[in-house]
Amino acid sequence: MFTKSNDFVFNLDDVRVPQKYYRARNNMRGANPGDVWKFSHVHYCNQNRQNHPTQKPEGLIERMVLASSNENGLILDPFSGSSTTLRVCQQLNQDAIGFELNPAYVEMTNTRLNEPFNGFDSIDSRMERVPNDLRKPKIRHKYLEDHISWFLKNHEDTIDEFKKIVKEKYGDNAFNLVSKHDKTDETYEQMILLENEAEYNV
Ligand SMILES: C[S@@+](CC[C@H](N)C(=O)[O-])C[C@H]1O[C@@H](n2cnc3c(N)ncnc32)[C@H](O)[C@@H]1O
Repeated sequence: MFTKSNDFVFNLDDVRVPQKYYRARNNMRGANPGDVWKFSHVHYCNQNRQNHPTQKPEGLIERMVLASSNENGLILDPFSGSSTTLRVCQQLNQDAIGFELNPAYVEMTNTRLNEPFNGFDSIDSRMERVPNDLRKPKIRHKYLEDHISWFLKNHEDTIDEFKKIVKEKYGDNAFNLVSKHDKTDETYEQMILLENEAEYNV
């Protein structure tokens, strides 16, 4: 993404990707997604596939919109094609304008924007990765809940796969290991502080 002036929006917190390892000193809210992003194309059998030769993955546009515009912004796509940008903005509650030369694609846009939403059609696979070393049940439990709301929002269809990976790494009870007795009102930040103390006091 490029900007011509120093006056720009970059909402890093909205586009972070999960860490590879749990470490008290890591920012578990996630890492910068970096300069190289990988999204698979929208496969021909995907229910969201449009009859447009260069349809972009919604996950890619989602990241661009989240990173570069604030809520209630106005996004312009002057070559909107199958209207991936408009569809993503619609789901993110952003106003958007699209220009399109081909009347068939304008028609396609009208249909697409009226379809029920079942989650974006693609995601950066790093969003589903489950950090290693989440050994402490309390921290793991809190983290896993946060992971879903931070990284898998608008991607309902990925949650089952995420849970499967969690279970493979941390066992079948990974999501409910915390007993009533263990339940805590501590915030994640407080837990990280406690963990930090433990890590540096050994
Ligand atoms: C690369 S495609 C855009 C694909 C889009 N991002 C998507 O996900 O479907 C470019 C689109 O721009 C349209 N286009 C080309 N020249 C245009 C012009 N001068 N004004 C408006 N639309 C134009 C083409 O018809 C084509 O659908």
